[in-house]
Amino acid sequence: MKIWYILFIIFSWMIYGQDATNDTTCETTCLSGPLGCSGRVAINPYCSCSHCAKSIWEPCGGKNWELGYCEKEQKCANITGEVLVEIPMIGICKYMRHYTAYKEFWEDDDEQCPEQSGCEMHTGVCDCITRRTCFPDFRYSSYETCKPYQAYLMDYYYAEGYTYEHPKPVCYSQGCDIIDDKCICETEGPCGRKYEFENRNKCNTALVEKICSNVTCPEVEQLKCPADSVASKPHTPPGECCPTIPSFCTCNFKKCNNTCPRRKRKIMIQPTNGVPGNCCDKFLCLH
Ligand SMILES: *[C@@H]1O[C@H](CO)[C@@H](O)[C@H](O)[C@H]1NC(C)=O
Ligand SMILES: *[C@@H]1O[C@H](CO)[C@@H](O)[C@H](O)[C@H]1NC(C)=O
Ligand SMILES: *[C@@H]1O[C@H](CO)[C@@H](O)[C@H](O)[C@H]1NC(C)=O
Ligand SMILES: *[C@@H]1O[C@H](CO)[C@@H](O)[C@H](O)[C@H]1NC(C)=O
Repeated sequence: MKIWYILFIIFSWMIYGQDATNDTTCETTCLSGPLGCSGRVAINPYCSCSHCAKSIWEPCGGKNWELGYCEKEQKCANITGEVLVEIPMIGICKYMRHYTAYKEFWEDDDEQCPEQSGCEMHTGVCDCITRRTCFPDFRYSSYETCKPYQAYLMDYYYAEGYTYEHPKPVCYSQGCDIIDDKCICETEGPCGRKYEFENRNKCNTALVEKICSNVTCPEVEQLKCPADSVASKPHTPPGECCPTIPSFCTCNFKKCNNTCPRRKRKIMIQPTNGVPGNCCDKFLCLH
């Protein structure tokens, strides 16, 4: 229990220790754009700017969501318990059994996220909706941009030999250069321009390598977590050398076996409290 208390103090300090700065949070949060994400691009619910969605076991949430929003398959869960994180707490991206992953775009509706409108092609028809989502990845931004393709699909089905002229792609270049120890990126640079790095991800990696080559981070003991949990990934802010948010042991609810064999009744003994070592419901299977 003592270790939890200490961890709690550490991270309370990390959350509240930053309150001394005035509210330029969104400017700093929004500084690095979404160029070169390995996963999806998500919107920060508080600042409405884009960032790379956080993946499983990465920290999320935090003050003004500065640590980011999770990939679609996961939720930003409180480190312990079986609940979602409450901002400004730090959460961990993970699978949560009471919050199913979205299979279809219209199922993704998160009150914390800004309203977004757009259209998807659904059995050859434009399906335009407005929803609160942090994944603004509609295929078409509006009915007007969707409609031509709807007509195209219809014609394709009903009129043989019809050829639709797609709009010609505009030529532009994108990439990053390191200038004065900063990654300067362009998304719509002049056609044919050459860059040192193809995206912000690669530029940041190279920059951090350069800046951090003579920095030794304080050694951190590897967390040993109970078998029903995992150690979350530490977090190093972009452009910094050492992690500022350590690992936490957090339940891996996917490891729990919640089912009884067929024809047996489940009798709950003790539901999980979401604390590592106690991640799974305790129950009996009776005839
Ligand atoms: C906010 O901080 C900046 C620099 O840290 C400072 O120049 C500015 O005066 C501050 N603004 C307010 C309203 O405190
Ligand atoms: C959320 O996590 C923190 C830190 O582990 C814990 O102190 C708090 O009780 C949790 N909240 C809930 C509702 O489980
Ligand atoms: C790293 O080395 C460079 C020169 O090699 C020096 O200018 C810089 O201050 C060093 N950084 C740190 C953090 O020691
Ligand atoms: C889950 O538990 C039940 C009863 O304890 C057992 O029969 C079943 O094989 C278990 N399933 C897995 C995937 O471990």
